Amino acid sequence: ALEHKVDSVLALMHLNEKIGQLVQYSGKWDATGPSSSKGDQHKLDKLKNGEVGSMLNITSVASVRETQKIVMENSRLKIPLIFGYDVIHGYKTIFPIPLGESASWDLNIMEQSASIAAKEASASGLQWTFAPMIDVSRDARWGRGMEGAGEDTYLNTVIGLARIKGFQGDDLSLPHTLAACAKHFAGYGFAEAGRDYNTVNIGEHELHNVILPPFKAAAEAGVATFMNAFNEIDGVPATGSKALQRDLLKGSWGWDGFVVSDWGSIGEMIAHGYAKDKKHAAQIALSAGSDMDMESYAYEAHLEALLNENKISMAHLDHAVRRVLRVKFRLGLFDDPYRYCNEDREKNEVYSKEHLAIARDAAKKSIVLLKNENDLLPLNKNLKSIAVIGPLANDKDTPLGNWRAKGRYNSAVSLLDGVKKAVGSSTTIYYEKGADLTVPTLREGQNQFLHPLKFNTTDVSGINAAVQAAKKAEVVLLAIGEDAYQTGEGRSQTDIGLFGVQQQLLEAVLEVNKNVVIVLMNGRPMDISWAAEHVPSILECWFLGSESGNAIADVVFGDYNPSGKLPVSFPHNVGQEPLYYNKKNTGRPYSKKHITYSGYTDAPKTALYPFGHGLSYTTFAYENLRLDKTEIAKDGQISVSVDVTNTGSVDGEEVVQLYIRDMVGSITRPIRELKGFEKVMIRAGETKTLSLTINADMLRFYTINKKWEVEPGDFRVFIGGDSQAKLKASFVVRE
Ligand code: IFM
Repeated sequence: ALEHKVDSVLALMHLNEKIGQLVQYSGKWDATGPSSSKGDQHKLDKLKNGEVGSMLNITSVASVRETQKIVMENSRLKIPLIFGYDVIHGYKTIFPIPLGESASWDLNIMEQSASIAAKEASASGLQWTFAPMIDVSRDARWGRGMEGAGEDTYLNTVIGLARIKGFQGDDLSLPHTLAACAKHFAGYGFAEAGRDYNTVNIGEHELHNVILPPFKAAAEAGVATFMNAFNEIDGVPATGSKALQRDLLKGSWGWDGFVVSDWGSIGEMIAHGYAKDKKHAAQIALSAGSDMDMESYAYEAHLEALLNENKISMAHLDHAVRRVLRVKFRLGLFDDPYRYCNEDREKNEVYSKEHLAIARDAAKKSIVLLKNENDLLPLNKNLKSIAVIGPLANDKDTPLGNWRAKGRYNSAVSLLDGVKKAVGSSTTIYYEKGADLTVPTLREGQNQFLHPLKFNTTDVSGINAAVQAAKKAEVVLLAIGEDAYQTGEGRSQTDIGLFGVQQQLLEAVLEVNKNVVIVLMNGRPMDISWAAEHVPSILECWFLGSESGNAIADVVFGDYNPSGKLPVSFPHNVGQEPLYYNKKNTGRPYSKKHITYSGYTDAPKTALYPFGHGLSYTTFAYENLRLDKTEIAKDGQISVSVDVTNTGSVDGEEVVQLYIRDMVGSITRPIRELKGFEKVMIRAGETKTLSLTINADMLRFYTINKKWEVEPGDFRVFIGGDSQAKLKASFVVRE
């Protein structure tokens, strides 16, 4: 029935209207009256003619209604627009940045936060989010790692699926859901040297085994749209890749949604040296299966001529239009183009108390306790004095992070406010900023892409006051890290250490008070090796969103026992990047006593804090790893059990992680790969037996035959609380 409806609309369409469905504009004008700028007049005329399929960056019920009305009241066929926006980690209620939230390893909370984001955005007139980003990323220098689920393929897959489920629900036509977008297809996270938009040079096996699985799973789960990517892979820009889009995604995987280009990425094929002009770029992109043109103005200008010259086919054009119409039907836009325009919902369903409570829950679950010498944490709420120090200590804006959608400037709970609320009146709080991280360049409402960050590298005048505060206090909470805009699009760095005068501040404070807890706020793995050696406690707090300070206080004072685990490896220094746990062994893996081994002469080759690492206020012991059989057929299953005991004195959650190594393959295999996990609550003193099943899906990989196969041979399984888990067992897969 759906295809019948799509065909019947398609049959009515003139060529200009078909091309129009493939055009997406960014809306920058006030929808109650377009500005006088030339570009806006052009967009307005195209809208009236029914020559636009989608708008991005128009938000609020009033603006969406106004813009939709232009099409409904003026165009011949009245095909509704679809409105998209980057709803990445919340709409107005801001959740932890996706990388941070991934540290919760809690799929339920991630699904829930995506569904709240969808509820708020759809209550504000939107139908489509450009999320989730499911790019596996292994290089801390790359600024956009903050938007994904980190370095691991399996984690990106399951988290991507949870987020898609949260955004889309079970039925896209319900008005509180959003169409999701799996991005960036493909390889964007592998930009050479972590430089954004840079060349990607990876082999076919790496592409299939590491990068593509989250996308395949998203396609199979029915994600409504895909976005292609700015980068080239092996000489072909992803936007112009027929192999990826038309052959693999739409062909082999049989996916029926539409692909939107990334912003201007069709036109950028000229700069890549792949298209000689915009017309050529339009020809390549449409033929490759890139359906909608985001802000390149290439399709609207050239598709008609290309068709007349037989350089593109009507079949390809119809194919793209059909896909866009299909999603619009699924969203129910043909039934009611204003179905997402409900002022009551906008008033009552956005930034509600219930949503903030869930944001706090997500935030506390995302915190990772990296180090806790002598159990300095949790702090007693009845301490006489606490110093809250640092450039980020009373910052209400930085915790919102980048890609904060409609998160209001300065609307997060600061660490200082969170701590003040948590302690009793007998505790004295000393606050000192100590230093500014950046020199303010960006004001409320300004476009972050137009304002480069300037760091405070010289002003140490505040450090003395911070030292005095530290001297008076029993414990210091030191909030340092990154500016919200140090990570995000175009925010790559060659230095991943503490910027500005933060290191000086840290050393000065530690000199007078040894009880320092670093509260680290950041969007990438940082080089914190000095701190890791000298500071007793470190809490990784990412950018935790609207409820940041409350969530940190929950953990600092032990109301919540931290349970987060790193979704990315933290290096000893930037020279180790890209750093990831599931590397290949090389021919010379040995140890340091050899000179000619695969390592560094000046640093370890392993992580400072490995993937999967995260402490608790209790401790867990793993014992009795056992398999129900040690030999299986290629399609067989093994049940793996392990006893996990909470050996401390408080209840706690543990993420039990299962890794597998395929010892010999037709292509070389990683030293271990995450293939399953379970987050469990274990009471103090309790032992829980966990059973996980190893199945063929966990053993299969893209082999030398260019097929997903299980190869017979020896395997190892490792279980534990991080990617360096030692407890292991072996099994054999028979022919
Ligand atoms: O969705 C984003 C994409 O991830 C990067 N370029 C711009 C798009 C739309 O804002």
